[in-house]
Amino acid sequence: MARHEELPVPTFWSLQAVYGEGLQLEEAERRFDNLNSKFIQVFAQPPDVYARSPGRVNLIGEHIDYEGYSVLPMAIRQDAIVAIRKHDSKEAEKVLKIANVSDKYNMCTYPAEPDQEIDMKHHQWGHYFICGYKAFYEYVKAKGLDVGPPVGLDILVDGTVPTGSGLSSSTAFVCSSTVALMAAFGVEVPKKEIAQLTCECEQYIGTQSGGMDQAISIMAKSGFAELIDFNPIRTTDVQLPAGGTFVVAHSLAESLKAITAASNYNNRVVECRLTAIVLAIKLGMKPQEAISKVKTLSDVEGLCVAFACKNGSSDPVFAVKEFLRKEPYTALDIEKITEEKLTSIFANSSSSLDVLNAAKQYKLHQRAAHVYSEAKRVHAFKDTVSSNLSEEDKLKKLGDLMNDSHHSCSVLYECSCPELEELVNVCRNNGALGARLTGAGWGGCVVALVKESIDSQFILNLKEQFYQSRIDRGVINNNDLGLYVFASKPSSGAAKFKF
Ligand code: GLA
Repeated sequence: MARHEELPVPTFWSLQAVYGEGLQLEEAERRFDNLNSKFIQVFAQPPDVYARSPGRVNLIGEHIDYEGYSVLPMAIRQDAIVAIRKHDSKEAEKVLKIANVSDKYNMCTYPAEPDQEIDMKHHQWGHYFICGYKAFYEYVKAKGLDVGPPVGLDILVDGTVPTGSGLSSSTAFVCSSTVALMAAFGVEVPKKEIAQLTCECEQYIGTQSGGMDQAISIMAKSGFAELIDFNPIRTTDVQLPAGGTFVVAHSLAESLKAITAASNYNNRVVECRLTAIVLAIKLGMKPQEAISKVKTLSDVEGLCVAFACKNGSSDPVFAVKEFLRKEPYTALDIEKITEEKLTSIFANSSSSLDVLNAAKQYKLHQRAAHVYSEAKRVHAFKDTVSSNLSEEDKLKKLGDLMNDSHHSCSVLYECSCPELEELVNVCRNNGALGARLTGAGWGGCVVALVKESIDSQFILNLKEQFYQSRIDRGVINNNDLGLYVFASKPSSGAAKFKF
C-alpha cells in the first residue's frame, strides 16, 4: 500500500469524514452553507469545489525545521476553507477575485498572470492566495502538465485559525488555496509534493520558513500528532498518551511573522546559516567550500559530533562551546572568519540582505546551542511516547521536555516576549506538566500539557489569572474567549469537498 504522504489529498462528498459528529459538524455545516450562499451573492454562481486545510500547534521542535531537523506538531480543528470557481476560458474577465466571509477583509483582485510579482511593500491578505497560485503554475510547468492559458477565478475564504496566533493561519490559507486550485484544474498531486510546494511558495511573501506548518496542514491524521522529517518530507504517527490534553492559549500579543521577518524570523535563519559556516571553517573546512556547501546546522552536525567524539562526548554542543564565543559577533568579526563579505554570501536572497541591513550583531553560540539541543528533545519526546513508562511518568517527562524547550527558545533563541512568559508561568502555576511557546514566537500562543482530569478547571484558572484583566481592559471580548484558549485533540489534514 502507498505511504500516506504518497497519496493525493482526499476528496469527500460529505462533511462528516472531516468534521465528525456533534457540535463540530454543526459548525462546519453552518460555515459551508454560508460560504455557498455568500459565493452566489458575490459571484452570482456557485463554487465548483471547496478545499480545507487546518492550522497546527507545534508540540516540540521549534525553529529547527529550516535547519533540517524533525519536528512534532499536530493539526488543530480550526481551519481555512476556500471555495473556488474557475471561469470558462471564453469568459472575458481574466481576473482573480478573492473575497472573505468576514467583513474585516476587503475583496482583493489580481491579474490572472501567474508570473506576477507580489507587491511586498503593500501587504494584503490576498497575497497568500497568490503565493499558492504562483506555486501551482510553477508546479504544472515543472511537471509539463497542460492546464490551458490562465483564466479568471472567483474565490471565497472562511478562516477560523486566529491570525497572528502562531497557529499557522497563513499556512492554512496558502495550503487550502493550493489544494483548491489543484482541484479546480483537475490536477492530482501526492501530499508530500503539495507540502513541499506550499513550503517553498510562502517564501514569495518574504519568510524563509521551514516546512513544518505546510507538512502537518496537508498530511495530518485525526487522532495523531506527527513526527515530521525533512529532505525528503516524511511523517510518522505519534499517538499521544491517554490522560493528557494539550491546551492552547493565546498570549494576545500578535505574532506578525511576515511583517517582522527581517528582525525576527529571517534573522534567525540567517544567524543559523552563518553559525553553520563558521563552525564548518573552525572544524577545518576551507572558507570558500563552507560558503558554497554549508546551508544549515544539520550540514555540520557530523563535523561537530566527530570533534566531540575525539573528546569523549557525542554532543554537537561540545563543539559549539569550544569554537563559538558567547559574546555576540559583529558582521566584521564573521567576515574575518569567512574571508568574504556577508552581503556577498547572501547576494542571491533579498530577504536575507534585509536581515543584514537590520542586524547589529549575531549570536552564533546561543542559536546553535538551541538548535542542536531542541533537535534532541524532539526525539526524546517521541521515544518517551513509545516507551514502557507508566502513563503518569510519560506525561511528566513530556512536560519536562516542553519546559526545557521553552527555556531554550526564550533564553538561547530569544523568540519569546513578556506576554508569552507571563502566560507560560500562569500555566505552570496552575498544574500544567509543561508549557511552552508554540510556533515562531514573538507573540502568539502557548501550548500546555495538562492532565485531562483538570483541563476545564485549568482553562477557568487561565481565564481568571490571565484573560480577565485583558477582558476588563477591552483587549478581547468575554464571548470570544473560546477562540483564544481551548483544549485540542489532533485533527485531520487537508481535504477537498464536492457536493
Ligand atoms: C513558523 C514557520 C515554521 C517553523 C516555526 C518555528 O511557524 O513557518 O516553519 O520554523 O515558525 O518552529
